[in-house]
Amino acid sequence: MKFTSLRSIAVQFAAAMSLSLAFAGTATADDHAEAAKDTGTVLITGANRGIGLEFARQYAAAGWTVIGTARKPDQATELAALDVEIVQLDVTDQSSIDAMSESLEGRSIDVLVNNAGIFPRVGQIEKVDIDDYTQTLLVNTLGPVRITQALLPQLRAGDSKKIVNITSQLASIELNTGGNFYGYRESKAALNMFTKTLALELGPEGFICITLHPGWVRTDMGGANATLSPEESVTGMRKVIDNMTADDNGVYRGFHGDIVPW
Ligand SMILES: NC(=O)c1ccc[n+]([C@@H]2O[C@H](COP(=O)([O-])OP(=O)(O)OC[C@H]3O[C@@H](n4cnc5c(N)ncnc54)[C@H](OP(=O)(O)O)[C@@H]3O)[C@@H](O)[C@H]2O)c1
Repeated sequence: MKFTSLRSIAVQFAAAMSLSLAFAGTATADDHAEAAKDTGTVLITGANRGIGLEFARQYAAAGWTVIGTARKPDQATELAALDVEIVQLDVTDQSSIDAMSESLEGRSIDVLVNNAGIFPRVGQIEKVDIDDYTQTLLVNTLGPVRITQALLPQLRAGDSKKIVNITSQLASIELNTGGNFYGYRESKAALNMFTKTLALELGPEGFICITLHPGWVRTDMGGANATLSPEESVTGMRKVIDNMTADDNGVYRGFHGDIVPW
């Protein structure tokens, strides 16, 4: 783990070193451009466990600069064991969001993964608790809206300009043949619509915004019977993210890259 301030000093130092090395003739500008193309800076929300932690692990292992957020950084032991920066973030708390974006002022972010989410299981309309339902919308829908809004300067400064919203197949209206999961389905369906609208606005600036279903994954949320390990799911999603082109802007895909019907 590295603290943000130390990391930014390290980044500036590394940038200065790259420059001096280039002048010294040991590395060319093309070498640096090539290296920058394959990696970059990724920010992952909810990176202390589950799918977010696996995203952090894989991106760090691939040499990316990883900013992983956690609601309680002091308890994010598995994340802290990785070569990543940890930033405190509760996606429902505007002061926490503002503090995060301030701490990242002047930085660039190539890929934003809006991953943090909650999944209350409510199967009957009589059992819908409006406070819980509201909380689900606050985390799963308004969370990504607020984070994207707060980090726009850093994303605009990034090379890749990729915004990845982690949705669910349960958000698909067409595939909803079984009912159940009040609140969760709606929160992710609204996230999908946000993604599409954002894609239409930011596409002309070179952004690629997608909404990505991770599959059914063995995490606290997915449970022990889920079909995929976090590693399998994230390996697939990273491939999708790596291969995203302008044609993908505003699409709804699964972790294999397959199109999911709205
Ligand atoms: N697992 C699946 O089968 C599956 C399937 C489809 C979609 N998804 C989606 O994939 C994403 C990750 O799911 P997961 O399986 O990894 O879930 P998970 O294991 O339950 O982890 C959820 C993460 O979100 C964070 N989080 C929750 N509320 C937050 C808040 N208010 N502010 C900031 N962070 C918050 C949690 O932090 P704390 O530790 O502090 O609670 C945790 O890091 C979610 O968006 C989920 O809807 C998962």
